[in-house]
Amino acid sequence: MKLWGGRFTKETNELVHSFNASLSFDQILYKHDIQGSIAHVTMLAKQQIIKDDEKDIIIKGLESIKLDIDNGKLLFDLSHEDIHSFIESNLIKRVGNVGKKLHTGRSRNDQVALDMKLYIRDEISNISNILYNLLKVINEMMEMHINTTMPGFTHLQKAQPTTLAHHLGAYFEMFKRDSIRLDNIKNLMNLCPLGSGALAGTTYPLDRDLTAELLGFDGPTLNSMDSVSDRDYLIELLSGISTIMMHLSRFCEEIIIWNSDEYKFIELDDSYSTGSSIMPQKKNPDIAELIRGKTGRVYGSLMALLTTMKSLPLAYNKDMQEDKELTFDAIDTVKLSLILFTDMIKTTKFNTDVLKKSAASGFTNATDVADYLVVKGIPFRDAHGIVGSLVLYCIDKNIHLDDLSLEEFKDFSDVIEDDIYLAISLDTCVNKRKTIGAPSHEAMTNIIKSNKTFLIK
Ligand code: ARG
Repeated sequence: MKLWGGRFTKETNELVHSFNASLSFDQILYKHDIQGSIAHVTMLAKQQIIKDDEKDIIIKGLESIKLDIDNGKLLFDLSHEDIHSFIESNLIKRVGNVGKKLHTGRSRNDQVALDMKLYIRDEISNISNILYNLLKVINEMMEMHINTTMPGFTHLQKAQPTTLAHHLGAYFEMFKRDSIRLDNIKNLMNLCPLGSGALAGTTYPLDRDLTAELLGFDGPTLNSMDSVSDRDYLIELLSGISTIMMHLSRFCEEIIIWNSDEYKFIELDDSYSTGSSIMPQKKNPDIAELIRGKTGRVYGSLMALLTTMKSLPLAYNKDMQEDKELTFDAIDTVKLSLILFTDMIKTTKFNTDVLKKSAASGFTNATDVADYLVVKGIPFRDAHGIVGSLVLYCIDKNIHLDDLSLEEFKDFSDVIEDDIYLAISLDTCVNKRKTIGAPSHEAMTNIIKSNKTFLIK
C-alpha cells in the first residue's frame, strides 16, 4: 500500500519500487519509529489537534505492532516502501480510520530524521559500553604488566626500554579519546527534528518543546530546513567509528607482528586464531587481520556519505536515503570488531621473558649511557658522540653495552665509573623515567589510578 497514491494514475514500475524502497534495511528502525510516533500523538492530543481517546487508540495500536514485530508475529512486507509506511498502514489496518490521524503535522522527512537520531543515540551508548569493556581490560592488563619490561620502538626499530603497561597505556589513551568523542557527538546531535514537517514546519500548533522533552532531547532543532537535511551527526559518527577502527587496526598490526615467529612476544589463544588448509603448522592471527582489513570498509562508509552529501541542495533529497545501509554496516562492524578484539587480547599470552630479553638487546639503553655522561659533566652533544662510538665498538664485538668492562668504558671516557652498570640497567632505565606519562613504576601507578577514576564515571 502506498501513502501517496492519490496523485498517480499508473502503478509504479516494479523495478522502480524496489530501487526506491528502503524497508529491506530501514526495518531496523521500527522501535524508534514507534517511539517517535507515540511522542508525536501524545503532543498532538495535548495540543488538542487530536482527541485524547484517539491518541489512546493510536498508542495502543502502535504498542501492539511493536510487540508483534518483537515476537516475530508481524513480518515486514516488502511491498511497502519504507518502515514509516509499513507501520502506518499496519496501524490503520488494526485500529481503523483513527490511525489515519497519526501523520497529522508530520512528514516522513522529519520522521526519518528523528528515527535516525534516536537510533544513533542508542547505538552510541551501545558502542560506548563495548568500548568501556575494552578500556577496563586494557587497564587490568596494565596493572598486571607494570613491571614487564619490553623494548619501545620508533621506525619499528628498538629505541628505548619501556614496559608493557606503558605500551598498553598508549592504547588506553586512544580508546579513552574515542569514548569521549562519542559523548561529544551525542551532545551535539541531541536536538529533536520532529515538527519540522517536510521542510517548512506545519500550520498546526505543535508543541515542539514537548515532543523534544518526551524523547529525551535537549530541545527542538531551530531551522526546519536544516532539520530534515542535516546528516552531519552521521558523518561525525562515521568519523568517530573510523577513528576507533584506525586505533584497532594499529593494535592489530602490532599483535600480528608480535605473534610472528620472529618476535614471539605473544601467543594468541587457540580459540582466537585459525589454521591453514595446507600448512599444518600454521596458527594464523586472522581475527586481528580481519579487523585491520575491515577498517578500510568503515573508512569507505565515511567517504561514501561525505560524497553523497556533497553539494546537495536544501532541503530533503532522496539521495539521503543512502545514509542508512552504510551507517548500519559501520556500526555493526565496529561493535563486532571491538567485542572480538577485547576477547582476543584478554586471552592472549604475553611471553614476558622474551619481551624482557628483547628489551635488553638492541642498545635500548644507549640514551641512558649518554644521560649518565651528562650527569658527570659532559655536554649532551659530546656524550651522544661518545656513546655512538661505544655502540659501534659493541656491534663489532657482538656484545651489549652492559657487557663492556670498566676499562673498556674508560677508553671512551674517563668520567665513567663503576656506577655505570646500575645506571644503565634495564630496571633503572625504566624506573628513572618518572615524568607524567613516562613508564616508571611510580608514573604508571598514578596513570592506572586515574584510568580507574575515568572508568568509574
Ligand atoms: N526512506 C526515506 C529515507 O530514508 C524516508 C524519507 C522519505 N521522504 C520522502 N520525501 N520520500 O530517506
